[in-house]
Amino acid sequence: MKRIIMFTIVASFLVIGFLVSNVDISLTRALAQTTEPSQVKIPEVIILGKDVKLGQVTFNHVNHNGGKYSIDGTSPIACIECHHTAQPAADVAKHPPLKTAWPADRTTTLTAELYAKDAKAGGVAACRDCHAKAGTVPKLLDKIPEVKHESSTAIMSMTNQQAFHRNCAGCHTEVAKVNKATKGPTTMQCMVCHKKAA
Ligand code: HEC
Ligand code: HEC
Ligand code: HEC
Ligand code: HEC
Repeated sequence: MKRIIMFTIVASFLVIGFLVSNVDISLTRALAQTTEPSQVKIPEVIILGKDVKLGQVTFNHVNHNGGKYSIDGTSPIACIECHHTAQPAADVAKHPPLKTAWPADRTTTLTAELYAKDAKAGGVAACRDCHAKAGTVPKLLDKIPEVKHESSTAIMSMTNQQAFHRNCAGCHTEVAKVNKATKGPTTMQCMVCHKKAA
């Protein structure tokens, strides 16, 4: 009899223990789920062009979107200055020759707040998914984007090389006009951006 009582006591402890640890697990899971969105971090430093012969380019993303890297040196650069398709089509159209939104029916504009709240709604796509290397087909479009500027009749193919050089070095050139001491590498300073991996 004594043995049976002991057995029952031990068994019920085991059952309780099992239940408690199960509750623990589901609680941990529930917590993990509620904290998930804010754990999706915006990448801080991005290595671009690992496959570029001249050398890869280390891009400090957080300096550019969190510091004072606007042309006048007073504020962060807005996400959509680079991620130009991450806004509603009607807003893109205010900045010709830009006209494409992605996804095409989006209603939101990418900001740090939107991304922290709902990374998926941020709708960020890698530049190269559209601006593919010359001679290749991009992942998200039928062909490499083409641009015609008002001032010219030439149609330019926005390969990765063109798109990055225009976006990156284009801004640094504007910065250099107002800040002679700028560290932002301009168009001809190839090797300040491109470095062979150590
Ligand atoms: C402001 C930084 C910057 C400067 C300055 C710069 N580049 Fe680049 N370059 C890049 C980035 C970023 C890419 C795109 C990398 C990628 O596709 O991921 C790139 C891409 C290229 C590519 C394309 C290679 C490929 O395989 O797709 C070539 C070629 C190139 N650069 C040559 C040059 C030359 C030559 C100069 C100087 C006249 C120069 N770059 C100046 C940042 C720079
Ligand atoms: C000065 C240009 C620039 C600014 C400003 C900028 N980004 Fe980026 N961002 C990039 C580049 C370049 C990449 C690398 C894309 C690639 O791999 O082709 C990138 C990558 C990302 C990625 C990762 C995408 C992926 O597929 O891995 C996220 C997320 C992102 N940016 C969010 C933001 C948010 C949010 C802001 C505004 C707070 C912002 N970015 C501002 C240039 C910029
Ligand atoms: C979803 C596809 C897509 C993505 C992602 C994308 N682009 Fe573009 N980009 C285009 C298209 C399409 C054009 C041609 C104009 C248009 O239709 O809006 C263009 C045009 C450009 C231009 C030419 C603008 C001008 O005034 O001449 C630059 C520079 C550029 N993109 C840089 C970038 C950079 C840098 C990134 C990543 C941070 C990026 N793009 C991401 C599709 C994309
Ligand atoms: C809208 C303006 C703007 C755009 C777009 C931009 N930059 Fe910059 N960049 C700056 C400014 C401002 C500085 C800081 C200059 C200083 O401190 O003197 C800078 C600095 C840099 C530096 C020096 C190191 C550092 O982080 O301070 C590198 C390298 C650089 N940028 C690469 C890039 C690349 C690659 C891209 C494109 C993917 C890019 N930049 C796009 C404005 C811009």
